[in-house]
Amino acid sequence: MIDIRSDTVTKPSKEMLETIMHADVGDDEYKEDPTVNELEEFTADLLGFEDGLFVTSGLMGNQISLLNHTNPGEEVLTTSDSHIKNYEHGAASFLSRIQFRNVEHDDGVFNFEDLEKQISKSLYHKPKISTVAIENTHLSSGGSIIPFEFIEKLYTFTSKKNLKLHIDGARIWHAILEEEKTNYGDFCDSLTFCFSKGLGAPIGSILLGSKKFIEDSREYRKKIGGGMRQVGVIASAAKFALENRNKLLDDHKKAKEVFDVIKLKVNKVDGLNSTTYKGTNMLLLHFDSVIKSDKFLENLLKENIKAGYLREKVVRFVFHKDNSQKDIKKVIKAIQSFS
Ligand SMILES: Cc1ncc(COP(=O)(O)O)c(C=O)c1O
Repeated sequence: MIDIRSDTVTKPSKEMLETIMHADVGDDEYKEDPTVNELEEFTADLLGFEDGLFVTSGLMGNQISLLNHTNPGEEVLTTSDSHIKNYEHGAASFLSRIQFRNVEHDDGVFNFEDLEKQISKSLYHKPKISTVAIENTHLSSGGSIIPFEFIEKLYTFTSKKNLKLHIDGARIWHAILEEEKTNYGDFCDSLTFCFSKGLGAPIGSILLGSKKFIEDSREYRKKIGGGMRQVGVIASAAKFALENRNKLLDDHKKAKEVFDVIKLKVNKVDGLNSTTYKGTNMLLLHFDSVIKSDKFLENLLKENIKAGYLREKVVRFVFHKDNSQKDIKKVIKAIQSFS
């Protein structure tokens, strides 16, 4: 079966498992796991932050950031379709007791006029806004890269307004490898990214920020049951994944190759209205009805290809390291045969 539902389905490679076998471990609650310490330091250095904290998931990284940056009853500005707002099971209201406010955007890039407008409303009639959260790459638009210049500009803006800027960078390496900009530490207050998606580790994310932010995050991680012990075993997999990060660019090529075929099938495959490729590892296929998109997914399944939905009528293909070139040829052949 060729699985292109998500990059979260990637499995640890033999080399990664070999690395895990030889990991040096200790009790991370005492900060004595050398592999975890090395991963946190290595990652913080790579992206220009003072410190890092190994956490179990992207959700945990996002939510610990909100616990740090906000007080109950405040608001966090983000896009209406962001992961932190929509797909974290209400964790922000459950843990931080905050609510979200939408800002207008284009593929995850905020409209500054609207940003100003939303903030000015807070003076009298709306709750205080303490934090701004962006997502890079932006999942809902199909893995769009948020331009680094926008992030620089946004950080100047948030700093002036005394707001914290958090980056949900679950898939940030897809952006970094294309843009070749790494100094994120200079342009946000916190950033989290996942080792468990395209990078191919079985578990884990890192949270990055200042020394003080990470010290406080360690306390929050403990409070929500995220303290860990001999987790050098999984940190070694995360480090291995990160050292092999350049391979993500192969997944961009796979997506582009399939996109070049699918775009010729727009208005030819039953119900397929348009297709989107934003330059990373995903493709979106927009259908005019659920019946037709369901049928398309059924036809793929008959060819042993498992894809899924991003949302109603929008099918998502996500390419990753476990899709071989042979698999890509099979996907292309299947699509070429549809009408
Ligand atoms: C953009 C984005 N942020 C955060 C997360 C959360 O990551 P995790 O599943 O590790 O909690 C995901 C997961 O798919 C994601 O796509």
